[in-house]
Order: sequence, then structure tokens, then C-alpha cells
Amino acid sequence: MGADDKTISAEEIAKHSAKTDAWFSIHGIVYNITNYLEDHPGGEEVMLDRAGQDATTDFEDVGHSEEARKELEKFAVGKLEGYDPAASKAAAKPAEKASGGSSMLGVLVPVVLVGAAVAYRFIM
Ligand code: HEM
Repeated sequence: MGADDKTISAEEIAKHSAKTDAWFSIHGIVYNITNYLEDHPGGEEVMLDRAGQDATTDFEDVGHSEEARKELEKFAVGKLEGYDPAASKAAAKPAEKASGGSSMLGVLVPVVLVGAAVAYRFIM
């Protein structure tokens, strides 16, 4: 996939924190946002605050729309070196395990199966 596959270190991103040359990373992808600063509906100040750093938390805190996420793709210049998607997922969704929906099913299915087996023997 060409240029998007380039691996870029956090040190490299840190060199691009100027208004005329601004990069940041979100979810392990590095973006060159220089040309988007003025177009950003949330203003260029917040973007520049994050330039040269990781903007994942800020980007997610705002609850950006699907459209914003699509917009983001246009500015990708590479992948963040040493990015661990598992670690960042765990940090982003700590509540996921609390839902309990699937573990309820995990109890129900065997109970129904055993019940069916017992009923079968009883009838036979
Ligand atoms: C390249 C990265 C980004 C893109 C493409 C982007 C795009 C957008 C878009 C399209 C909106 C309009 C609302 C929506 O569709 O969700 C928006 C709103 C906003 N963005 Fe971003 N954004 C980016 C990064 C950031 C960052 C890093 C921050 C915070 C540091 C931020 C803060 C905001 C805020 C506060 C709003 C709300 C503005 C309002 O509702 O008045 N954005 N952004």
C-alpha cells in the first residue's frame, strides 16, 4: 500500500509540531495534518496543541463522527513505530468486560443441553 506503510517513530513525529509542518498519531496511524488545520471544524488551536504528539485520547474524547474518521484517512503518512493495538484497545474500552451478555449465554447453553439430555433419557 505504498507510503502509508512507512513506520514512523514518536521521535520523528515530535519534529513536526509547527503550524507549517504538523503531524500527530491516532490509534497507531501517523497523520500529516498541516493542510487540515484551517479546515478543522473544531479549530486549529486544538489540533496544534497535539501536533508532534499522540492525539488518540483527544480525538476520541470529542466523539468525532464517521465523517471525521473518513476525513482522517486522507492525511495518513505512515504507522506509529512500536504501536500496540491490544494495549490501546484495553485502555480505550475498560467497560467492555462488564456487560456480561455473552457469559449469561455461556451458562444458559449447557444448562439447556443437560436438561434436554435428562429429558431424553427420562422419556426413553
Ligand atoms: C486529523 C484529525 C481530525 C479530523 C479529521 C477532525 C475532524 C473533525 C470534524 C469533521 C468535526 C466536526 C464534527 C464531527 O464530524 O465529528 C470536528 C469537530 C471537533 N474536533 Fe476534530 N478532527 C481531528 C482532530 C481533532 C483533535 C486532535 C481534537 C482535539 C485536540 C479535535 C477537537 C474537535 C472539537 C473540540 C470539535 C467540536 C467542534 C464543535 O462541535 O464546535 N479534533 N473535528
